[in-house]
Amino acid sequence: MQSPDSHPLAANEADRHPHSAPLPSPAGRAAPRVIAVASGKGGVGKTSVSVNLATALVNAGQRTLLLDTDLGLANVDVMLGLSPRFTLADVFAGRCELRDTVIEGPGGLMVVPASSGKRHMTELQPQQHVGLVHAFSQLDLPIDAMVIDNAAGIADGVLTFCQAAQDVIVVVCDEPASVTDAYALIKVLNRERGMTRVQILANQVQSAAEGRLLFEKLQRVSNRFLDVTLNYLGAIPRDEWLRRAIQRQEAVVDAFPSAPSALAFRDIARRSRQWQSPPGPRGHVEFFIERLIEQAPANMSASASAVAPVRSSAA
Ligand SMILES: Nc1ncnc2c1ncn2[C@@H]1O[C@H](COP(=O)(O)OP(=O)(O)OP(=O)(O)O)[C@@H](O)[C@H]1O
Ligand SMILES: [Mg+2]
Repeated sequence: MQSPDSHPLAANEADRHPHSAPLPSPAGRAAPRVIAVASGKGGVGKTSVSVNLATALVNAGQRTLLLDTDLGLANVDVMLGLSPRFTLADVFAGRCELRDTVIEGPGGLMVVPASSGKRHMTELQPQQHVGLVHAFSQLDLPIDAMVIDNAAGIADGVLTFCQAAQDVIVVVCDEPASVTDAYALIKVLNRERGMTRVQILANQVQSAAEGRLLFEKLQRVSNRFLDVTLNYLGAIPRDEWLRRAIQRQEAVVDAFPSAPSALAFRDIARRSRQWQSPPGPRGHVEFFIERLIEQAPANMSASASAVAPVRSSAA
């Protein structure tokens, strides 16, 4: 396997998008932007969004890692036609190191696959989820962005991976259960994990107005009961080209770049690069916390030792 340091995009500093670079760390590298994709209800399009957002970021010159944390029913690798040698299940079983799982996808996208059909992977302990977050922080990969595809639902792992990201995209579509489950997810992220900013992405919409209405529904109820700001990220149209791309095991942004969904994904990737990072780590559970700590006041650094490494907590 090619090491992340010899990644074709790694040497390509000049290609980095001018809007993309947060403050550089003392080590000279910027802290990566970490975006978690979640939904509450299953089947609304999280993996499609993750794969296409990550691919659009790579195509825009961002060194991007796509992490599949759907530990029971993974499918990022299937959607991209990849055949992983190792998955996160092998890391938890002590068969390989986290860096051994990183494989190269289209255009130089780095992918960390999860395992499908391994039920014990859905029963990891909360410390193991935190350990995984911490292990990524120690990987020191040369990346600008990381996109995390989550499992459906509001299980501990989903909440931890969302909490550990700088931004969460909640995918919603025009079905009553999708809206209520999205609200349930936002509620626990806000009340239990202290998240105060959530991006809403409407998927499979028939019109721009449908997406906006979905957002407004969520915003009304959130404003009333929660202390959270919802941002409307936009809408991805229901698009037959996206289904065809899935059949071809390719991202639609690569397979059919002028399809309506591909245009929408590129627009969302462009806007996501302009988000400001929220201030400070949340609850000491954050991807790349070391690099954030390097940039933060000294009194934050004590928190790093509170997080157990994934190998020792899982093996
Ligand atoms: N914008 C879209 N246009 C057309 N079809 C779509 C769109 N988004 C998703 N789909 C369809 O929905 C299916 C499910 O999408 P996807 O696997 O991305 O959902 P998911 O939220 O990741 O599901 P799970 O909860 O099982 O992980 C896809 O296989 C595709 O057929
Ligand atoms: Mg999925």
